[in-house]
Amino acid sequence: MIKHLTHAALVLAFAAVAFAQPVVDAVIGVDEYANTLVHAESGAVVHWTIADDTLHMAFTMTAGGWAGIGWLAEQTNRKSGADMLIVTIQDGAPVILDMFQVSARGEPAADEASGGTNSVTEFAASHEGGVWTVEFVRPLATGEDADVDVVPGEAMTLLIAFSNVMDPSRAHARSTSGGAFYAPITF
Ligand code: HEM
Repeated sequence: MIKHLTHAALVLAFAAVAFAQPVVDAVIGVDEYANTLVHAESGAVVHWTIADDTLHMAFTMTAGGWAGIGWLAEQTNRKSGADMLIVTIQDGAPVILDMFQVSARGEPAADEASGGTNSVTEFAASHEGGVWTVEFVRPLATGEDADVDVVPGEAMTLLIAFSNVMDPSRAHARSTSGGAFYAPITF
């Protein structure tokens, strides 16, 4: 009997860990997120949990400069139409920039430039030893033209890019040289 109770308690404890809402503190705990995508080519590891109408996302990425992540609903012309988030250091502190990609290639623009807003509601990041650890929260759908809705269960395209400088007006290395990538993702 005692053995059974102990087992039940353990199962409950694991369930509590697995389903707890992630804490946005720039530390990604083992099993903190429900889903993990290991992107071998870039070395990025992406985690996410969908809770009601909210996306809790985290990633680690090795980069001397800014780190970028994005998603596309339907890819029609390279990276055109992608929601983009760039994490960098400004005035000595990590920031996350909410951006949108209009052109097929070249730089994304801040959502604010087209009447949108930064839709990230919680954010924490650390950049130590050239490795980013990032956690953020965003509504699945923001209602803004400058964002792409995250639709759970639908096949989407994840974009990953990083730079060796913190200045987001400077491009990542070319995709052909290992600075930018696409990967299939289903949130
Ligand atoms: C979240 C941030 C970003 C992501 C995820 C990202 C992703 C990508 C991807 C996947 C490509 C490959 C396009 C293709 O060949 O089909 C690309 C291309 C390109 N991106 Fe970005 N990008 C980001 C930010 C930027 C920024 C800030 C700049 C410039 C300041 C930039 C400039 C370029 C240029 C010039 C190309 C064409 C050259 C190439 O194919 O590598 N990108 N980007």
